[in-house]
Amino acid sequence: MKKGKYLTTPIYYVNDIPHIGHAYTTVAADVIARYYRMCGHNVLFLTGTDEHGQKVQEAASRQGRPPKDYVDEMVVRFMDLWKALNISNDDFIRTTEERHITVVQGALDLLYKKGEIYLDSYQGWYCLPDERFWMERDLRDGKCPDCGRAVDQITESNYFFRMSKYQEWLIEYIKSHPDYIQPSVRRNEVLGFLQNPLGDLCISRPKSRLSWGIPLPFDDKYVTYVWFDALVNYISIPGYLTDMGRFNKWWPADFHLIGKDILTTHSVYWSTMLRALDIEPPKTIFAHGWWTVEGEKMSKSRGNVVNPFDIIQEFGVDPFRYFLLREVTFGLDGDFSKDAMIHRINGDLANDIGNLMSRTISMIERYFSGIVPKPSDAATSADVTLEGSVETLFGKVETFMEELEYNKALGAIWEVIGSANRYIDESAPWALAKDDSKKDRLSTVLYNSAELLRIVSLYIYPYMPETAREMWGQLGIGENIASTRLDEGCHWGELKPGLRIKKGQVLFPRIEVKSSAGLQGRHQKPDVAAGFSLRPKSGSEDTIPIEDFAKIKLRIGKIISAEAVAGSKKLIKLLVDLGDEKRQVVAGIAAHYSPEALIGKSVVIVANLKPAKLMGIESQGMVLAASNGETLSLITPEKDIPPGSTVK
Ligand code: MSP
Repeated sequence: MKKGKYLTTPIYYVNDIPHIGHAYTTVAADVIARYYRMCGHNVLFLTGTDEHGQKVQEAASRQGRPPKDYVDEMVVRFMDLWKALNISNDDFIRTTEERHITVVQGALDLLYKKGEIYLDSYQGWYCLPDERFWMERDLRDGKCPDCGRAVDQITESNYFFRMSKYQEWLIEYIKSHPDYIQPSVRRNEVLGFLQNPLGDLCISRPKSRLSWGIPLPFDDKYVTYVWFDALVNYISIPGYLTDMGRFNKWWPADFHLIGKDILTTHSVYWSTMLRALDIEPPKTIFAHGWWTVEGEKMSKSRGNVVNPFDIIQEFGVDPFRYFLLREVTFGLDGDFSKDAMIHRINGDLANDIGNLMSRTISMIERYFSGIVPKPSDAATSADVTLEGSVETLFGKVETFMEELEYNKALGAIWEVIGSANRYIDESAPWALAKDDSKKDRLSTVLYNSAELLRIVSLYIYPYMPETAREMWGQLGIGENIASTRLDEGCHWGELKPGLRIKKGQVLFPRIEVKSSAGLQGRHQKPDVAAGFSLRPKSGSEDTIPIEDFAKIKLRIGKIISAEAVAGSKKLIKLLVDLGDEKRQVVAGIAAHYSPEALIGKSVVIVANLKPAKLMGIESQGMVLAASNGETLSLITPEKDIPPGSTVK
């Protein structure tokens, strides 16, 4: 067994409803945890809930309930979500648990005895009705910024942690450990923040204001500040102060995965707390970006909070897990929309991997009565290339996973899936099957396709565990994929000929989308409801009068030049001759046409469409195409007709 790996997520405020942001970090941690286990590491993957503090106390009191009652009920939502998302956490920390409280108090006691914590009094403003303490700078027109009522000046005593004394050390540490805070943009942000003098950290709250917290071990009139309490979870669970042998086995943590909004608390508070306790910092704190929803900030007031349970219900667990990590680079912000989800499902999942699976299984069934054939002829250069692409995949995936470059790892896996689909297209097993003398070649092609699928299943298991299991089941492989080592099982040739495949359900059914008239590289509008009709019945609300149609100016355009848009798999930039002018049009057709094949074609252009920017490139029109979801065909005139001709 290799060295243990310790991974954490933030512990989530229990008073919130779990949303896509919570799901994101937890799925990201789960993928790494599963990947490490498959590479033979022992893993401690920790997640949990942050259950103390003012907000929880207030929420419970609004319901007239004791806070513990309230958190016991709320925590179930998170636990249920992790079950629904197939999260394989090894432990779940609740900050109200005794095993955590003891360690928080132990750590406070140590720091207090070392003189790292001191009592000080300072002045501030108190809003009696709200029971909230404010600093001068928080006030609005001298009133409570929350309720607008008058505030009283009070002098309050609190305990402070000597955080400021570690400022120089922290700057030095971050500078000399480039991997400590990632990605580098966040590291620079923290270094920027540390250019200003760091204050000491108030780590107590008087019980008269807040009673729902861990009592300070050296002064029972106070409870612990919720962030101090929460951060200690990362060491309390592996055994700090209670089982140092176990603690030393896991610590330092390999990754603290967090969102960018809680970077300061982790990089500054937590690092200095650990330093004061003489504990080594974690190896990496990785701050990921934020999800917006259809371009807008997600918030309760906007009513656009993405509930992961709904997404799982509508699209399934694995597509959701895949989408979260494929759609954006981990570390950057991302945008969630159902259109984008459907696009990924229909493209990467249904078209690419789903299609590869179903055609391979169907052909083995049809041509070999459901028995995986033996590769029987000498390898061709296509076979060697396919095998080579699989053999080099491990190195690529390993590098990307170590750097948490999830989308690049998936990109590399999907390249191999793409090559396999092309390999089948080019080998044309359906044609080989017609000629008895080509039976050996047919065996080899189908064996290779099945073997590639076996290996691909291993790679996708951390991302989509249910799908990977299903694929192994359909290939007739008896072993449990979860206990198969990736680094051992990823080598070519281990699939045993003679296995009986078990044709099963389609991996990813396509989601029907309304066919939109033209394409501008945008996702088509979804209509997931069953039984929708493309052709509305006359007189139905969906019909339009002819005048509406006449508003759309359609003209014949001749494509003069075409080039792929860098960084996009879908877009092609076209220069189109409309007779009296030339237009630049960006079209989402790259999956169906190569740029070279487009030059010289006459197409139909929507000529009076408001220009739009796609990946920063202006599109001055739209090219019309017909699509049934799988095939896409540009609409071209049946006879030769000059550019600029009108289409009615
Ligand atoms: N309880 C603290 C963390 C203590 S860790 C010792 C907390 N909890 S939280 O529930 O408010 O937030 C948890 C995580 O959700 C944060 O990492 C935050 O970045 C993440 N997200 C909240 N909204 C988000 C998005 N819209 N998108 C992505 N992640 C977001 O903070």
